[in-house]
Order: sequence, then C-alpha cells, then structure tokens
Amino acid sequence: MQVITNVEGLAPFHGGLFVPTMGALHEGHYTLVRAAAQRRAAMSGNARVIVSIFVNPTQFNDPKDLARYPRTLNTDAAGCERAGADVVFAPLPEVIYPPGNPVPVPELPDVAFHPRLEDAHRPGHFAGVCQVVKRLFDLVRPSAAFFGEKDWQQLRVIAAMTIREHLNIEIVPVATVRESDGLAMSSRNAFLSPDDRARATALSQALRVAQDCSTSKQAESAMLEVLRSRGITPEYAVVRDAATLMPLAENRPRTAPARALIAAPVGRIRLIDNLPWPA
Ligand code: PAF
Repeated sequence: MQVITNVEGLAPFHGGLFVPTMGALHEGHYTLVRAAAQRRAAMSGNARVIVSIFVNPTQFNDPKDLARYPRTLNTDAAGCERAGADVVFAPLPEVIYPPGNPVPVPELPDVAFHPRLEDAHRPGHFAGVCQVVKRLFDLVRPSAAFFGEKDWQQLRVIAAMTIREHLNIEIVPVATVRESDGLAMSSRNAFLSPDDRARATALSQALRVAQDCSTSKQAESAMLEVLRSRGITPEYAVVRDAATLMPLAENRPRTAPARALIAAPVGRIRLIDNLPWPA
C-alpha cells in the first residue's frame, strides 16, 4: 500500500472508492475501509480504495480542539493497509488550501443550517466540512464515498451537497460501530475519564429506550429521563425526520424514516450518537 502526499500521485486512483478521514483511526473508520474493499471485490474493473487523512482546520470551532486532535499517521496507515486500502492520501495543509488560491465553500444545503442541531451548536462547522469534502472530491474524483452514520447530520449534509453540486458520486452510509457496552466508537472517547467513560453509555441506552416509545414526544422525554438520571444534560435529545432532520410533521406518513439523535457533554467531552426511530 502506498502513502502519497501530492495531487499528481492521485491520478491512477481516479474513479475509486473513497474514505475521507481526519486520522486518529479506530474500528469505526476501519469498518468504512472494509466496506469500500468489499465493494471493490464485488466490482468488475480496477477501482481502488483510497483513504484520505487530513485534519481540516476549517471545520473546528475551537482552536484548542484542533491543536489536541491526535496525529497518528504511521499507525493509521498500517491499519488502513490491514483493512484493505490501496492508497492513503495524506496531504499537507497547503495542498488542500493553496496559499493565495482560496478554496470556495459550496452553497450549503438546508439540512446544514435549518435543523438547529449540530449546525446550531457548532457554528461554521458544516461550511468547513463541505469546503474540504468538495475539495477532496475534486482531487480524488471518486465514484463512491463512504461515511459513518454516527455523524448523521454530516452524512445528510454531504449527501445533499453532492446532489446540489451535481457531483455524480455515490454516498454510501455505513452503520455505527459500537463498543460491547453500546458506546459509539469515536476518537473523542479516549479523552473520557474512567467515570465519564462509564456514564457515556447513557447515550446509547437513551436511544434504545426511545426506540420503544410510540410517539416522538414520549421518545424525547424518555431520552431526557435516562440522560438526567446519569447526571447528563444534553444539548439536544430529539426525534427528527431522517433526511431533512426537521421536527416530524403531524401528517407525516408512518413509513417516512425518522431518527433519534443526541448530543451531550459528558464531563469535558462532547459526544453525539443516533439510531433509527422507532426500532
Ligand atoms: O468525519 C470526518 O472525519 C470529517 O468531518 C471529514 C468528513 C473527513 C471531513 O474532514
């Protein structure tokens, strides 16, 4: 497996199966790489699996978060190789953001600023995500790109942005990978104190309790109760339309997919998680 840092090196991989990441990779990311490798095995032709590792400064609201984001390129590259990647693209910031040549932010789709979920709590975040993902798509020119369902609003924003920009790239969602006690895998979990790590299981427990409720109002109250019983005050714990992430309309068809979503600080670490609603 190759590690490349320049744009010219990407040419042989155009049309490939792409997994964009910021590094500090864990099983959740390797599951995306394996999903891409499985797709490669099922395809005729010679599409390759490309993983990008780039810590994108424009999507961080807090400079301290950016500074402490772990940089573990060698370990990440070895893991990507084991998971079946053909190449890792690890560009320097000036390759993605060439000095004197501003990278445009695509027009944001409604789902990036109407729901008042991640958009409200992380102002500017989706502008940064869309900017870097569009730039990476332009450089890597994939046929399909793989994103984890854990960042559900991000997944919906990127899917909508890809359609709006007529990019002709398939966006493939991949189910969240969980620890054995239900905690969704995240690079942030490593920063939880032992006590907070134990309390963090409340997020997935609350989402599962919500799945058994018959109305969205009951589901939202049930999630709050579970979280508060563990000393957690969420930023949001809601049931929304799975595609638009807007509140469920009274007259919505019972078959329209919905999603329960939570964001909550646990100690000093902000966690997010979501599940389909109802089960
Ligand atoms: O989900 C992530 O790791 C990042 O937001 C992404 C999609 C790689 C863009 O920097």
